[in-house]
Amino acid sequence: MITIPLDLPAPTLSLQAQSAELCQLIRQEISHEPSASISFERFMELALYEPKWGYYTAGLDKFGKAGDFTTAPEISPLFARCIGRQCQQVFGHLGQADVFEIGAGTGQLAIDLLLFLEQQHSLPSRYKILEISSTLKQRQQQRLQQHIPHLFPLIEWLETWPTSPIKGLILANEVVDALPVQQFFWTDETVQEVRVAYEKQRFVYCLQPVAHSLKDQLIQLKLSYFPEVKAYQTELRSQLKAWLGKLSDTLEQGLALIIDYGFPAQEYYHPDRADGTLLCYYQHRTHADPLSLVGLQDITASVDFTDLARAAVQFGLQVAGFTSQAAFLLNNDLLPLIEKCYDEVSTMDVNRRVHLLTSPSEMGELIKVMGLTRNCESFPLNGFKLYDKRMRL
Ligand SMILES: C[S@@+](CC[C@H](N)C(=O)[O-])C[C@H]1O[C@@H](n2cnc3c(N)ncnc32)[C@H](O)[C@@H]1O
Repeated sequence: MITIPLDLPAPTLSLQAQSAELCQLIRQEISHEPSASISFERFMELALYEPKWGYYTAGLDKFGKAGDFTTAPEISPLFARCIGRQCQQVFGHLGQADVFEIGAGTGQLAIDLLLFLEQQHSLPSRYKILEISSTLKQRQQQRLQQHIPHLFPLIEWLETWPTSPIKGLILANEVVDALPVQQFFWTDETVQEVRVAYEKQRFVYCLQPVAHSLKDQLIQLKLSYFPEVKAYQTELRSQLKAWLGKLSDTLEQGLALIIDYGFPAQEYYHPDRADGTLLCYYQHRTHADPLSLVGLQDITASVDFTDLARAAVQFGLQVAGFTSQAAFLLNNDLLPLIEKCYDEVSTMDVNRRVHLLTSPSEMGELIKVMGLTRNCESFPLNGFKLYDKRMRL
C-alpha cells in the first residue's frame, strides 16, 4: 500500500501498482535485516535508483510541465550558453578538449551547449555522458539524434566512469543533490541514526545507535554548528567522497563545474535549520515526506559545499571558485547573450526565464556553482571573477 500526503493529487492506479512493487522490494530488504530497519541512505537509493522500479530508473516523466521539477537547462538555452562561454575560456588555454557530463537528464544541456560551441567554432573533440538511468539514457539518445544529428557522432555514452582521464570540462548540474544521504537526530545528550522500518502497512522512521566509526564526527558537527539546539535532525552525504574521488581520477587537466542547491557548512548546519534540507518533488509541489509516494517522487538534499571543497582538496584538486548561479551566469556574459536571444523569442518570455534563473527568490541564490580545477591554475576563471564566495566555505 502506498501513502500519499493529504494535500497532494493521487497518482494513477498503474503508477500506484508500480510503487507497490517497489515498496514490496524495500519491505523484503527490511525484513532481512536483524534490526528490521534499513538506513535512510539505502531507502533513498532504492526509491530513486532500484534498477527496475526506482524513480530515476523507471520510465516516468520527471522533467518539465508533465513531470515533477524543472532544471535550469530546461528553462532557457541561456544557461547552456553561459556555461559555453566558460568552456571557451578553458578550451582556449587547453587546446583540444572534451566535455564530460554526469547525469544529463533529458539531454537539453548537451543540445544547447553543443549548438553554442559549434556557433563559436569551439566544439569539443568528444562529448561524453555518464547516465545512471537507462530510460533517461535512451531519451537522451533519441533527443540528441533528433535535434543535432550532425553533431551526434561527437557524443558518446559511457557505462562507467571514464577509464582514461579527461582534459577539458566536467559538468554535473543537479546531480550531487540526488546522491543518497544518511539522516541523524541529535538531542542534548545523544545522537542517533534515523532509519526506515515497516509497521502497520507503512514505512516509518526509527532511531538506532550510530555506527561507532561516525560518532566522533557527529558529535563534532553539533559542537561546531548547533551546540545549543535541543532537537536537531539533518543529513550527511557519506557517498560524496567516493563520487568526488572518481571525478578527481577522471580530471587530468581542466575544470569541473558542480552546480547544485546547497550552502557552505555554516549555513547548512545553521541552528535554525533544525529539520535538515531533505525535500521531495512531486508534480511541481514540494513536501518533506520521502516515505510516501515511493518511487513516484524525487528526493533531494542540499549539498554541503564546505564538505565538497574539503574532499576536493584532499584529492589534489584546486577550489578555483564558488558563487551563486546568478553571479556565475552574469560573469559569463549573460547580459550580452540575453540581447541576442530577443531575436529568437519574445522579450517577455526571455525576461521571465532569466528571472527564474537569476532571481534570489528562484534559482539565482539557492543554486551555487563550484569550480574545481587541475593543472589549469594559470588564469582566473571568468565565472567567478565577481562575487567569488570561497571565503564563506
Ligand atoms: C535532477 S536530474 C538533473 C538532470 C540534468 N543534469 C539537468 O540539469 O536537467 C539528475 C540526473 O542525474 C542522474 N544521476 C543521478 N545519480 C547519478 C550517478 N550516480 N551517476 C550518473 N548519473 C546520475 C539522473 O538519472 C538524472 O539524469
